[in-house]
Amino acid sequence: MISVEWKPEYEIGNAEIDGQHRFLFDIANRIFQTLGTEEQILVLSELFDELFEYTRRHFRDEEVIWRPLGEEIFQAHRNKHLLLRTQLEAIWLSDSIFNRDKTAQSLYEWVSALLHHVLNFDRGMNRKLLDS
Ligand SMILES: [Fe+2]
Ligand SMILES: [Fe+2]
Repeated sequence: MISVEWKPEYEIGNAEIDGQHRFLFDIANRIFQTLGTEEQILVLSELFDELFEYTRRHFRDEEVIWRPLGEEIFQAHRNKHLLLRTQLEAIWLSDSIFNRDKTAQSLYEWVSALLHHVLNFDRGMNRKLLDS
C-alpha cells in the first residue's frame, strides 16, 4: 500500500503552516488506506471532500500570511496554488471503481508535487517574510 511520511525536515518554520502541511499528508494517508478496501465506496468521496476543503483552507491561510510580500510575489504564489487545486480535482474526476490503482498513483504524485511546493516555494515565502 502506498503511503506518505511527513518529516520534521519538511517544516518551513511557521508552526501553523507546518501543522497544516502535516495534516494534508494525514488526509492523503487515510485515502491511501481506504483505496482497495470494501469501505471505499462509502468513505472515499467524503475523504476527497475533506482533502479539497482542507487544501482550500490551507492555501487561503497561506495567501493571507504571504500577502504583505507584495502583489507580484503574491499572485505568482497564488497561481501555483490554483494549479495544485486543479490537479487535485482532476484526480477525483478521473477516479472510478475500475482504476483505483491509478487514483492512488495520481494522488501520490500530487502529494509529491505539494511537497515540492512546500520545500521550494512555501519555505522561500516564509524566509522572505522574515527578512522583510
Ligand atoms: Fe503550503
Ligand atoms: Fe503555498
